[in-house]
Amino acid sequence: MSKLRSVLRGCGSYLPAQILTNADMAKKVDTTDEWIVQRTGIRQRHIAADDETTSVLGLKAAEAALADAGMRADEIDLIIVATATPDHTFPATATQIQAELGITQGAAFDLQAVCSGFVFALATADKFLTSGAAKAALVIGAETFSRILDWEDRTTCVLFGDGAGAVVLAAEEGEGTLADRGVLTTHIRSDGRHKTKLYVDGGAGSTKTVGLLRMEGKEVFRHAVVNLADTVRHTFEATGLTGADIDWFVPHQANRRIIDATADKLGISQDHVVVTVDRHGNTSAASIPLALAEAHADGRIKRGQLVLIEAMGGGFTWGSALIRW
Ligand code: COA
Repeated sequence: MSKLRSVLRGCGSYLPAQILTNADMAKKVDTTDEWIVQRTGIRQRHIAADDETTSVLGLKAAEAALADAGMRADEIDLIIVATATPDHTFPATATQIQAELGITQGAAFDLQAVCSGFVFALATADKFLTSGAAKAALVIGAETFSRILDWEDRTTCVLFGDGAGAVVLAAEEGEGTLADRGVLTTHIRSDGRHKTKLYVDGGAGSTKTVGLLRMEGKEVFRHAVVNLADTVRHTFEATGLTGADIDWFVPHQANRRIIDATADKLGISQDHVVVTVDRHGNTSAASIPLALAEAHADGRIKRGQLVLIEAMGGGFTWGSALIRW
């Protein structure tokens, strides 16, 4: 039976030019390259210049994704920007990117699920496209976490970086089977009881300030491994697939140890895992589209292959999606 699918037409990314290495970090806070690499796998991260706001990064990623898709901006009728670091409290960063792209049709809005934002945004866009409510979507993950870090807190500031990634999805008729190209299944979850384990201590509606990121690292680590394996289990149950069927596992890039532990639990071998955390750090909602764009551009991910994505973030929020490229 035919079924509308959200087919991935292209992807792109943008990283700010400035790189902050672990050695640079050690000049700012009491840390070492050895500690950071051993606990997280991170060696460097990119930091946005003063004039590079989240919408600037997101726009560049969106333009690259449109070029990769061979599509014009005026073919897009839905823009979702996953971000926890919007340019302004309002209007949405997505509407600013919409204007910069010269798009005056359809709708653009931001979505807030922190590090799970890209998975939530992809799941949302998929619902619009497969219901016929939109024809082509830009799904963007863009972040400037360097602006909400406490640069005196060594337990958090070494972990994050800035960047943006984007994908173009278009509604296409499929057969309704797992052989179809496009988004095959999505699963998203949240549990607000865990707010204080990973949060920003300010906001327009509370402190009237932006606030800084606070985290209980050990607690987040513990929940991440359990929740990520759980959400992927739902993906496997929904499709009858196993880890052995996955061509590319593209997890949220928070910590190499979480990535390795999750891949092990799921029976996915290391040579099928895309890793960028060593060079990008944790770029929150941008990390998955950045990794997708890299592995797509260098030819690792090929048309027709099965790509599994997953993420977990503040809230807690977590989710996964399976895409046939
Ligand atoms: N450099 C050097 N030492 C550091 C440090 C740093 N940057 N950060 C913390 N330490 C110290 C701590 O003060 C502590 O010292 P103590 O034993 O004298 O008290 C020691 O290292 C161990 O700290 P701990 O927090 O137990 O380390 P850990 O093994 O849990 O690793 C994280 C810390 C943050 C790397 C780890 O918990 C983690 O990755 N958590 C998940 C975070 C995450 O992914 N968040 C985003 C999710 S979207």
